[in-house]
Amino acid sequence: MKVLACYSLKGGVGKTTTSVCLAHISATLGFRTLLFDLDTQGSATWLLRTKRSSGNGLTKAAKGASKGEKKARSQIVGSDYDNLDLLPYGIETIDLDLQLSSMKRPEQGASRILGLAEGDYDLVVVDLPPSAGNLAQSVLKESDRVIFVMTPSMLSIHALVEAKDRIPTVAKQKTSVLFTMVQERRKTDLAAIELVESENNHVLSTKIVKSTLFDRMQEKRAPIALSAPNSKASHDYHALFEEVSKMLDLDKLR
Ligand SMILES: Nc1ncnc2c1ncn2[C@@H]1O[C@H](COP(=O)(O)OP(=O)(O)OP(=O)(O)O)[C@@H](O)[C@H]1O
Ligand SMILES: [Mg+2]
Repeated sequence: MKVLACYSLKGGVGKTTTSVCLAHISATLGFRTLLFDLDTQGSATWLLRTKRSSGNGLTKAAKGASKGEKKARSQIVGSDYDNLDLLPYGIETIDLDLQLSSMKRPEQGASRILGLAEGDYDLVVVDLPPSAGNLAQSVLKESDRVIFVMTPSMLSIHALVEAKDRIPTVAKQKTSVLFTMVQERRKTDLAAIELVESENNHVLSTKIVKSTLFDRMQEKRAPIALSAPNSKASHDYHALFEEVSKMLDLDKLR
């Protein structure tokens, strides 16, 4: 099982869109996939037409309590798509940050909750909130790969610099930068990408186009590969999955 975290310190850059689209494509390609919604906004849960769970046992599971683990596992639900399950956001997700902060080794708590999926899935995609708290930091530490999602803007670059400074995992090799909402004809977009590439960051060669089709994805509450199947937007996410699955060696898990 491999764990892929979608993260950024900055809000609204496409983390949830990326998590949902990648998880869906992974599932359509036959990988047993779990989308783990760890953002209290519950956007990924909503996009997959699922309700938040009342209490998902995660805080207890983080402490290693077997009752909590059982409860959390029982909250995993199927989706409208074959091979794609979801651990929805629950009221308790709000307390998880506090719970991990109270632990001597928060990463052990993160490892326990990610371990809930062990054995049943090939890929776990985690949608994280734009936060530098213990939950985000420890999940990043325990993930196999991190996609740092950003737009080609100076504010996003500032968020990357801050994150690298404050969150050790973001500065590590397992983190790759993904540019979303890219307009290839815009000189300022290209300049921002070049700047990040020139500063010792691993930038994914796939870039995600800026497109109003992502509004349609929300209207239809369906991943881009379904809501706009023949679009450049959908093509970009397929290419991204190819690139990331190679880095994760996913084919070996089949
Ligand atoms: N490539 C894109 N082109 C245009 N709009 C996009 C693109 N990707 C995402 N969006 C839109 O941008 C908005 C924010 O996207 P999303 O919710 O995925 O970001 P986020 O980083 O998860 O936000 P948050 O930090 O609040 O969790 C949404 O309205 C989404 O439809
Ligand atoms: Mg989000």
